[in-house]
Amino acid sequence: MDQHSCSGFLPPFPHFATQAIHYAQEPEQWNSRAVVPPITLSTSFKQEDPEVEQPYVYTRYGNPSRHILEEVVGTLDGAGGQRHLMDCLAYSSGVGAILNICHLLKSGDKIVCTQDVYAGTREILNEMEKKYNLQVKYVDCTKPKCLEAAITPETKLVWLESPSNPTMKVLDIRACAEAVHGIRKDLLVAVDNSFMSPYFQRPLSLGADISMSSGTKYINGHSDVLMGLVSVNSKELYEKLKFLQKYLGAVPSPFDCYMCNRGLKTLHIRMKLHFQNGLAVAKFLKGHPRVQQVLYPGLPSHPQYEVTRKQCTGVSGMLSFYIKGNEQTVFAFLKNLKVFTVGFSLGGFESLASHPATMSHASLSAEDKERLGISDTLIRLSVGLEDEQDLLQDLDQALKAAVSGEFPSKNNPHPAFPSG
Ligand SMILES: Cc1ncc(COP(=O)(O)O)c(C=O)c1O
Repeated sequence: MDQHSCSGFLPPFPHFATQAIHYAQEPEQWNSRAVVPPITLSTSFKQEDPEVEQPYVYTRYGNPSRHILEEVVGTLDGAGGQRHLMDCLAYSSGVGAILNICHLLKSGDKIVCTQDVYAGTREILNEMEKKYNLQVKYVDCTKPKCLEAAITPETKLVWLESPSNPTMKVLDIRACAEAVHGIRKDLLVAVDNSFMSPYFQRPLSLGADISMSSGTKYINGHSDVLMGLVSVNSKELYEKLKFLQKYLGAVPSPFDCYMCNRGLKTLHIRMKLHFQNGLAVAKFLKGHPRVQQVLYPGLPSHPQYEVTRKQCTGVSGMLSFYIKGNEQTVFAFLKNLKVFTVGFSLGGFESLASHPATMSHASLSAEDKERLGISDTLIRLSVGLEDEQDLLQDLDQALKAAVSGEFPSKNNPHPAFPSG
Protein backbone atom coordinates (compact mmCIF):
# COMPACT_ATOMS: atom_id res chain seq x y z
CA MET A 1 0.00 0.00 0.00
CA ASP A 2 1.58 3.28 -0.99
CA GLN A 3 1.76 6.07 1.55
CA HIS A 4 -0.58 8.33 -0.39
CA SER A 5 -3.62 6.03 -0.34
CA CYS A 6 -3.24 5.50 3.45
CA SER A 7 -2.86 9.18 4.15
CA GLY A 8 -5.09 10.64 6.80
CA PHE A 9 -5.96 7.28 8.35
CA LEU A 10 -4.79 6.28 11.83
CA PRO A 11 -1.21 4.99 11.84
CA PRO A 12 -0.92 1.16 11.94
CA PHE A 13 -1.25 -0.42 15.39
CA PRO A 14 2.32 -0.95 16.66
CA HIS A 15 3.76 -4.49 16.75
CA PHE A 16 0.67 -5.94 15.02
CA ALA A 17 2.53 -8.32 12.70
CA THR A 18 5.00 -9.48 15.35
CA GLN A 19 2.17 -10.18 17.77
CA ALA A 20 0.09 -12.00 15.14
CA ILE A 21 3.06 -14.23 14.42
CA HIS A 22 4.54 -14.79 17.89
CA TYR A 23 2.10 -13.92 20.67
CA ALA A 24 1.12 -17.04 22.65
CA GLN A 25 2.91 -19.21 20.11
CA GLU A 26 6.12 -19.97 22.10
CA PRO A 27 7.56 -23.38 21.14
CA GLU A 28 8.62 -23.87 24.79
CA GLN A 29 5.01 -24.44 25.83
CA TRP A 30 4.97 -27.79 23.99
CA ASN A 31 7.05 -30.80 25.07
CA SER A 32 8.13 -31.22 21.43
CA ARG A 33 9.19 -27.53 21.11
CA ALA A 34 7.12 -27.41 17.89
CA VAL A 35 7.43 -24.03 16.15
CA VAL A 36 4.02 -24.57 14.53
CA PRO A 37 1.54 -25.22 17.35
CA PRO A 38 0.25 -28.81 17.38
CA ILE A 39 -3.46 -29.59 17.01
CA THR A 40 -4.73 -31.09 20.26
CA LEU A 41 -7.64 -33.30 19.32
CA SER A 42 -8.08 -34.98 22.69
CA THR A 43 -11.36 -34.17 24.39
CA SER A 44 -10.09 -35.35 27.78
CA PHE A 45 -6.94 -34.44 29.70
CA LYS A 46 -5.30 -36.63 32.35
CA GLN A 47 -5.93 -35.31 35.85
CA GLU A 48 -2.97 -35.94 38.13
CA ASP A 49 -4.96 -35.21 41.24
CA PRO A 50 -8.78 -34.97 41.14
CA GLU A 51 -8.60 -32.36 43.91
CA VAL A 52 -6.22 -30.02 42.07
CA GLU A 53 -7.59 -28.04 39.14
CA GLN A 54 -5.48 -28.33 36.00
CA PRO A 55 -5.38 -25.94 33.04
CA TYR A 56 -7.17 -28.43 30.80
CA VAL A 57 -9.92 -30.83 31.80
CA TYR A 58 -12.34 -31.33 28.94
CA THR A 59 -12.17 -29.71 25.52
CA ARG A 60 -15.50 -27.88 25.68
CA TYR A 61 -14.15 -26.06 28.78
CA GLY A 62 -10.78 -25.33 27.23
CA ASN A 63 -8.34 -26.73 24.69
CA PRO A 64 -4.70 -25.76 23.95
CA SER A 65 -5.38 -25.16 20.22
CA ARG A 66 -8.29 -22.87 21.12
CA HIS A 67 -6.45 -21.23 24.01
CA ILE A 68 -3.57 -19.92 21.89
CA LEU A 69 -5.99 -18.61 19.25
CA GLU A 70 -8.01 -16.80 21.92
CA GLU A 71 -4.85 -15.31 23.42
CA VAL A 72 -3.47 -13.95 20.18
CA VAL A 73 -6.81 -12.57 18.94
CA GLY A 74 -7.41 -10.86 22.31
CA THR A 75 -4.05 -9.15 21.93
CA LEU A 76 -4.67 -8.11 18.33
CA ASP A 77 -8.09 -6.75 19.33
CA GLY A 78 -6.27 -4.57 21.87
CA ALA A 79 -8.10 -6.16 24.80
CA GLY A 80 -6.63 -4.96 28.06
CA GLY A 81 -5.97 -8.28 29.76
CA GLN A 82 -2.60 -9.58 30.81
CA ARG A 83 -0.93 -12.72 29.52
CA HIS A 84 -2.73 -15.85 30.77
CA LEU A 85 -5.58 -13.66 31.98
CA MET A 86 -7.93 -14.40 29.16
CA ASP A 87 -9.86 -11.70 27.33
CA CYS A 88 -11.06 -13.40 24.15
CA LEU A 89 -13.40 -16.31 23.48
CA ALA A 90 -13.71 -18.38 20.31
CA TYR A 91 -16.98 -19.87 19.00
CA SER A 92 -17.96 -22.29 16.26
CA SER A 93 -19.25 -19.42 14.04
CA GLY A 94 -19.92 -15.70 14.05
CA VAL A 95 -23.61 -16.26 14.72
CA GLY A 96 -22.66 -18.59 17.58
CA ALA A 97 -20.75 -15.65 19.07
CA ILE A 98 -23.71 -13.27 18.60
CA LEU A 99 -26.08 -15.76 20.21
CA ASN A 100 -23.76 -16.17 23.22
CA ILE A 101 -23.64 -12.38 23.69
CA CYS A 102 -27.47 -12.24 23.56
CA HIS A 103 -27.57 -14.80 26.36
CA LEU A 104 -26.02 -12.21 28.67
CA LEU A 105 -29.52 -10.68 28.73
CA LYS A 106 -32.66 -11.81 30.53
CA SER A 107 -36.34 -11.68 29.66
CA GLY A 108 -37.64 -8.10 29.66
CA ASP A 109 -34.27 -6.54 28.75
CA LYS A 110 -34.03 -4.30 25.70
CA ILE A 111 -31.52 -4.12 22.87
CA VAL A 112 -30.87 -1.11 20.68
CA CYS A 113 -29.45 -2.19 17.34
CA THR A 114 -28.10 -0.21 14.43
CA GLN A 115 -30.62 -0.45 11.59
CA ASP A 116 -27.94 -1.34 9.03
CA VAL A 117 -26.99 -4.72 10.38
CA TYR A 118 -26.07 -8.12 8.95
CA ALA A 119 -29.33 -9.91 8.08
CA GLY A 120 -28.34 -12.93 10.20
CA THR A 121 -27.98 -10.70 13.27
CA ARG A 122 -31.44 -9.27 12.57
CA GLU A 123 -32.83 -12.83 12.28
CA ILE A 124 -31.31 -13.80 15.65
CA LEU A 125 -32.55 -10.64 17.39
CA ASN A 126 -36.05 -11.02 15.93
CA GLU A 127 -36.17 -14.62 17.15
CA MET A 128 -34.94 -13.59 20.62
CA GLU A 129 -37.67 -10.95 20.67
CA LYS A 130 -40.42 -13.47 19.84
CA LYS A 131 -39.29 -16.33 22.05
CA TYR A 132 -37.49 -14.72 25.00
CA ASN A 133 -39.33 -11.42 25.42
CA LEU A 134 -36.32 -9.29 24.56
CA GLN A 135 -37.32 -6.05 22.87
CA VAL A 136 -35.22 -4.83 19.97
CA LYS A 137 -35.27 -1.30 18.63
CA TYR A 138 -33.52 -0.55 15.34
CA VAL A 139 -32.17 2.97 14.96
CA ASP A 140 -29.98 4.98 12.61
CA CYS A 141 -26.75 4.94 14.62
CA THR A 142 -24.93 7.18 12.13
CA LYS A 143 -26.62 9.81 14.30
CA PRO A 144 -25.49 9.21 17.92
CA LYS A 145 -28.34 11.48 19.10
CA CYS A 146 -30.89 8.97 17.70
CA LEU A 147 -29.08 6.20 19.52
CA GLU A 148 -29.11 8.16 22.76
CA ALA A 149 -32.85 8.87 22.41
CA ALA A 150 -33.63 5.15 21.96
CA ILE A 151 -32.10 4.08 25.28
CA THR A 152 -34.44 3.34 28.17
CA PRO A 153 -33.76 2.06 31.72
CA GLU A 154 -34.40 -1.49 30.44
CA THR A 155 -31.79 -1.26 27.67
CA LYS A 156 -28.89 -3.60 28.40
CA LEU A 157 -27.12 -4.00 25.06
CA VAL A 158 -26.35 -1.71 22.13
CA TRP A 159 -25.37 -3.57 18.96
CA LEU A 160 -23.31 -1.74 16.35
CA GLU A 161 -21.77 -2.85 13.08
CA SER A 162 -19.31 -0.72 11.13
CA PRO A 163 -18.98 -0.64 8.21
CA SER A 164 -22.42 -2.14 7.68
CA ASN A 165 -23.29 -5.09 5.49
CA PRO A 166 -24.02 -4.40 2.60
CA THR A 167 -24.40 -0.60 2.42
CA MET A 168 -21.02 0.28 3.98
CA LYS A 169 -22.38 2.87 6.39
CA VAL A 170 -19.73 3.83 8.95
CA LEU A 171 -20.60 4.57 12.56
CA ASP A 172 -18.58 6.89 14.77
CA ILE A 173 -17.88 4.18 17.33
CA ARG A 174 -16.32 6.50 19.90
CA ALA A 175 -19.23 8.97 19.70
CA CYS A 176 -21.76 6.12 20.01
CA ALA A 177 -19.93 4.54 22.98
CA GLU A 178 -19.63 7.91 24.73
CA ALA A 179 -23.32 8.67 24.17
CA VAL A 180 -24.33 5.28 25.58
CA HIS A 181 -21.93 5.24 28.54
CA GLY A 182 -22.85 8.84 29.28
CA ILE A 183 -26.32 7.53 30.09
CA ARG A 184 -25.23 4.42 32.00
CA LYS A 185 -21.72 3.03 32.45
CA ASP A 186 -22.94 -0.58 32.71
CA LEU A 187 -24.71 -0.51 29.33
CA LEU A 188 -22.89 -2.92 27.02
CA VAL A 189 -21.75 -1.62 23.64
CA ALA A 190 -20.90 -4.42 21.20
CA VAL A 191 -19.41 -3.86 17.75
CA ASP A 192 -19.40 -6.36 14.89
CA ASN A 193 -15.91 -5.85 13.46
CA SER A 194 -16.11 -8.58 10.79
CA PHE A 195 -15.72 -6.21 7.81
CA MET A 196 -12.50 -4.64 9.13
CA SER A 197 -10.54 -7.13 11.25
CA PRO A 198 -8.39 -5.81 14.11
CA TYR A 199 -5.76 -4.78 11.57
CA PHE A 200 -7.89 -1.82 10.49
CA GLN A 201 -10.20 -1.20 13.45
CA ARG A 202 -10.15 -1.84 17.19
CA PRO A 203 -13.60 -1.16 18.70
CA LEU A 204 -12.34 -1.71 22.27
CA SER A 205 -9.88 1.15 21.91
CA LEU A 206 -12.79 3.33 20.72
CA GLY A 207 -14.77 2.71 23.90
CA ALA A 208 -16.78 -0.43 23.05
CA ASP A 209 -17.15 -3.17 25.67
CA ILE A 210 -17.29 -6.06 23.22
CA SER A 211 -15.55 -6.56 19.89
CA MET A 212 -17.13 -9.39 17.94
CA SER A 213 -15.84 -10.83 14.65
CA SER A 214 -16.94 -13.49 12.28
CA GLY A 215 -13.47 -15.04 12.10
CA THR A 216 -14.83 -16.89 9.07
CA LYS A 217 -14.09 -13.71 7.12
CA TYR A 218 -10.81 -11.73 7.10
CA ILE A 219 -9.28 -13.17 10.27
CA ASN A 220 -9.10 -16.70 8.87
CA GLY A 221 -9.07 -15.29 5.36
CA HIS A 222 -8.98 -18.53 3.39
CA SER A 223 -12.69 -19.37 3.11
CA ASP A 224 -12.24 -22.74 4.76
CA VAL A 225 -13.18 -22.22 8.43
CA LEU A 226 -16.26 -21.07 10.35
CA MET A 227 -15.25 -19.11 13.45
CA GLY A 228 -16.65 -16.55 15.88
CA LEU A 229 -14.40 -14.40 18.11
CA VAL A 230 -15.30 -12.08 20.98
CA SER A 231 -12.84 -9.86 22.86
CA VAL A 232 -13.68 -7.92 26.00
CA ASN A 233 -11.91 -5.57 28.39
CA SER A 234 -13.52 -6.59 31.64
CA LYS A 235 -12.77 -9.70 33.69
CA GLU A 236 -16.36 -9.81 34.96
CA LEU A 237 -17.76 -9.81 31.43
CA TYR A 238 -15.20 -12.38 30.37
CA GLU A 239 -16.25 -14.71 33.19
CA LYS A 240 -19.95 -14.40 32.25
CA LEU A 241 -19.18 -15.15 28.60
CA LYS A 242 -16.85 -18.00 29.57
CA PHE A 243 -19.70 -19.65 31.47
CA LEU A 244 -21.96 -19.33 28.41
CA GLN A 245 -19.25 -20.59 26.05
CA LYS A 246 -18.88 -23.64 28.28
CA TYR A 247 -22.58 -24.42 28.68
CA LEU A 248 -24.08 -23.31 25.37
CA GLY A 249 -21.27 -25.36 23.91
CA ALA A 250 -20.83 -23.55 20.59
CA VAL A 251 -17.05 -24.05 20.61
CA PRO A 252 -14.88 -24.40 17.50
CA SER A 253 -13.01 -27.62 16.78
CA PRO A 254 -9.26 -27.77 17.53
CA PHE A 255 -8.65 -28.19 13.80
CA ASP A 256 -10.55 -24.98 12.96
CA CYS A 257 -8.65 -23.17 15.72
CA TYR A 258 -5.37 -24.35 14.19
CA MET A 259 -6.46 -23.15 10.73
CA CYS A 260 -7.62 -19.77 11.99
CA ASN A 261 -4.44 -19.27 14.04
CA ARG A 262 -2.49 -20.06 10.87
CA GLY A 263 -4.56 -17.61 8.80
CA LEU A 264 -3.79 -14.87 11.33
CA LYS A 265 -0.10 -15.07 10.54
CA THR A 266 -0.66 -13.26 7.22
CA LEU A 267 -3.57 -11.03 8.25
CA HIS A 268 -1.49 -7.82 8.09
CA ILE A 269 -0.21 -8.60 4.58
CA ARG A 270 -3.61 -9.65 3.28
CA MET A 271 -5.40 -6.59 4.68
CA LYS A 272 -2.96 -4.18 3.01
CA LEU A 273 -3.59 -5.82 -0.36
CA HIS A 274 -7.37 -6.01 0.20
CA PHE A 275 -7.24 -2.25 0.80
CA GLN A 276 -5.09 -1.61 -2.27
CA ASN A 277 -7.26 -3.74 -4.57
CA GLY A 278 -10.50 -2.50 -2.98
CA LEU A 279 -9.53 1.11 -3.53
CA ALA A 280 -8.49 0.42 -7.14
CA VAL A 281 -11.83 -1.31 -7.84
CA ALA A 282 -13.80 1.46 -6.11
CA LYS A 283 -12.08 4.18 -8.15
CA PHE A 284 -12.54 2.21 -11.36
CA LEU A 285 -16.25 1.63 -10.74
CA LYS A 286 -16.78 5.26 -9.72
CA GLY A 287 -15.58 6.37 -13.13
CA HIS A 288 -17.48 3.71 -15.08
CA PRO A 289 -20.40 4.92 -17.23
CA ARG A 290 -22.49 1.83 -16.35
CA VAL A 291 -22.28 2.36 -12.62
CA GLN A 292 -24.69 4.60 -10.76
CA GLN A 293 -23.01 4.90 -7.35
CA VAL A 294 -20.16 3.30 -5.41
CA LEU A 295 -20.29 2.72 -1.64
CA TYR A 296 -16.74 2.43 -0.28
CA PRO A 297 -15.54 4.06 2.97
CA GLY A 298 -12.05 4.50 1.47
CA LEU A 299 -13.32 6.99 -1.13
CA PRO A 300 -13.38 10.70 -0.22
CA SER A 301 -16.94 10.83 -1.64
CA HIS A 302 -18.20 8.41 1.05
CA PRO A 303 -20.40 10.33 3.53
CA GLN A 304 -18.46 9.01 6.53
CA TYR A 305 -14.98 9.18 5.00
CA GLU A 306 -13.69 11.52 7.72
CA VAL A 307 -15.05 9.31 10.50
CA THR A 308 -13.43 6.31 8.83
CA ARG A 309 -10.05 8.04 8.69
CA LYS A 310 -10.39 9.11 12.32
CA GLN A 311 -11.09 5.63 13.70
CA CYS A 312 -9.45 3.18 11.27
CA THR A 313 -5.93 2.47 10.03
CA GLY A 314 -7.36 1.70 6.58
CA VAL A 315 -10.33 -0.09 5.01
CA SER A 316 -10.89 -3.61 3.71
CA GLY A 317 -11.86 -4.94 0.30
CA MET A 318 -15.60 -4.74 0.95
CA LEU A 319 -17.60 -2.43 -1.29
CA SER A 320 -21.00 -2.20 -2.90
CA PHE A 321 -22.29 -0.41 -5.99
CA TYR A 322 -25.54 0.29 -7.80
CA ILE A 323 -25.46 -0.75 -11.44
CA LYS A 324 -27.39 1.29 -14.03
CA GLY A 325 -30.32 -0.82 -15.20
CA ASN A 326 -32.52 -3.31 -13.39
CA GLU A 327 -32.46 -6.75 -11.79
CA GLN A 328 -31.88 -8.39 -15.20
CA THR A 329 -28.79 -6.20 -15.72
CA VAL A 330 -27.50 -7.39 -12.33
CA PHE A 331 -28.06 -11.05 -13.17
CA ALA A 332 -26.37 -10.65 -16.58
CA PHE A 333 -23.43 -8.88 -14.88
CA LEU A 334 -23.03 -11.62 -12.28
CA LYS A 335 -23.27 -14.41 -14.86
CA ASN A 336 -20.60 -12.82 -17.02
CA LEU A 337 -17.99 -12.49 -14.24
CA LYS A 338 -14.93 -14.68 -14.75
CA VAL A 339 -12.39 -13.82 -12.05
CA PHE A 340 -14.99 -12.84 -9.42
CA THR A 341 -17.01 -15.80 -8.17
CA VAL A 342 -20.67 -15.29 -7.35
CA GLY A 343 -21.12 -16.50 -3.80
CA PHE A 344 -21.97 -15.87 -0.17
CA SER A 345 -19.42 -14.84 2.45
CA LEU A 346 -16.52 -12.41 2.21
CA GLY A 347 -13.02 -11.65 3.40
CA GLY A 348 -11.22 -14.55 1.71
CA PHE A 349 -8.29 -14.34 -0.70
CA GLU A 350 -10.65 -14.84 -3.64
CA SER A 351 -12.87 -12.10 -5.05
CA LEU A 352 -16.58 -12.69 -4.58
CA ALA A 353 -19.66 -10.91 -5.90
CA SER A 354 -23.18 -11.12 -4.53
CA HIS A 355 -26.67 -9.70 -4.93
CA PRO A 356 -27.79 -8.85 -1.37
CA ALA A 357 -31.48 -8.44 -2.29
CA THR A 358 -31.79 -12.10 -3.34
CA MET A 359 -28.88 -13.60 -1.38
CA SER A 360 -27.59 -12.45 2.04
CA HIS A 361 -30.48 -10.04 2.73
CA ALA A 362 -33.31 -11.96 1.03
CA SER A 363 -35.07 -12.44 4.39
CA LEU A 364 -35.67 -8.68 4.83
CA SER A 365 -39.12 -7.26 4.09
CA ALA A 366 -39.54 -5.10 0.95
CA GLU A 367 -39.97 -2.01 3.19
CA ASP A 368 -36.79 -2.73 5.15
CA LYS A 369 -34.85 -3.27 1.93
CA GLU A 370 -36.09 0.01 0.53
CA ARG A 371 -35.36 1.92 3.74
CA LEU A 372 -31.83 0.49 3.94
CA GLY A 373 -31.00 1.03 0.27
CA ILE A 374 -30.82 -2.68 -0.56
CA SER A 375 -32.37 -2.28 -3.99
CA ASP A 376 -32.48 -4.78 -6.86
CA THR A 377 -29.54 -3.00 -8.50
CA LEU A 378 -27.19 -3.20 -5.52
CA ILE A 379 -24.17 -5.50 -5.93
CA ARG A 380 -21.71 -6.32 -3.15
CA LEU A 381 -18.08 -7.17 -3.85
CA SER A 382 -15.50 -8.75 -1.59
CA VAL A 383 -12.35 -7.74 -3.40
CA GLY A 384 -9.68 -10.41 -3.01
CA LEU A 385 -5.96 -10.66 -3.58
CA GLU A 386 -5.77 -11.33 -7.33
CA ASP A 387 -3.90 -9.04 -9.74
CA GLU A 388 -5.51 -5.63 -9.88
CA GLN A 389 -5.60 -5.48 -13.68
CA ASP A 390 -7.39 -8.84 -13.92
CA LEU A 391 -10.04 -7.66 -11.46
CA LEU A 392 -10.64 -4.38 -13.29
CA GLN A 393 -10.79 -6.08 -16.69
CA ASP A 394 -13.22 -8.67 -15.39
CA LEU A 395 -15.58 -6.04 -13.99
CA ASP A 396 -15.33 -4.01 -17.19
CA GLN A 397 -16.19 -6.89 -19.51
CA ALA A 398 -19.06 -8.05 -17.26
CA LEU A 399 -20.51 -4.52 -17.07
CA LYS A 400 -20.37 -4.18 -20.86
CA ALA A 401 -21.90 -7.61 -21.43
CA ALA A 402 -24.63 -6.87 -18.86
CA VAL A 403 -25.77 -3.73 -20.64
CA SER A 404 -25.98 -5.48 -23.98
CA GLY A 405 -27.99 -8.22 -22.22
CA GLU A 406 -25.53 -11.02 -23.00
CA PHE A 407 -25.73 -14.24 -21.03
CA PRO A 408 -22.86 -16.72 -21.36
CA SER A 409 -23.85 -20.07 -22.82
CA LYS A 410 -24.20 -22.86 -20.24
CA ASN A 411 -22.29 -25.21 -22.57
CA ASN A 412 -19.44 -22.79 -22.83
CA PRO A 413 -18.57 -21.69 -19.32
CA HIS A 414 -15.96 -19.00 -19.77
CA PRO A 415 -12.71 -19.69 -17.92
CA ALA A 416 -11.11 -17.00 -15.79
CA PHE A 417 -7.89 -17.49 -17.73
CA PRO A 418 -8.29 -18.01 -21.46
CA SER A 419 -5.39 -19.97 -22.90
CA GLY A 420 -2.42 -17.84 -23.96
C1 LIG B 1 -21.11 -8.69 9.39
C2 LIG B 1 -21.30 -10.15 9.71
N1 LIG B 1 -21.42 -10.54 10.99
C3 LIG B 1 -21.61 -11.82 11.32
C4 LIG B 1 -21.70 -12.81 10.37
C5 LIG B 1 -21.95 -14.24 10.79
O1 LIG B 1 -20.75 -14.97 10.77
P1 LIG B 1 -20.68 -16.55 10.51
O2 LIG B 1 -21.13 -16.79 9.11
O3 LIG B 1 -19.24 -16.87 10.79
O4 LIG B 1 -21.60 -17.19 11.48
C6 LIG B 1 -21.59 -12.47 9.03
C7 LIG B 1 -21.70 -13.49 7.97
O5 LIG B 1 -21.76 -13.21 6.81
C8 LIG B 1 -21.39 -11.10 8.68
O6 LIG B 1 -21.29 -10.70 7.41
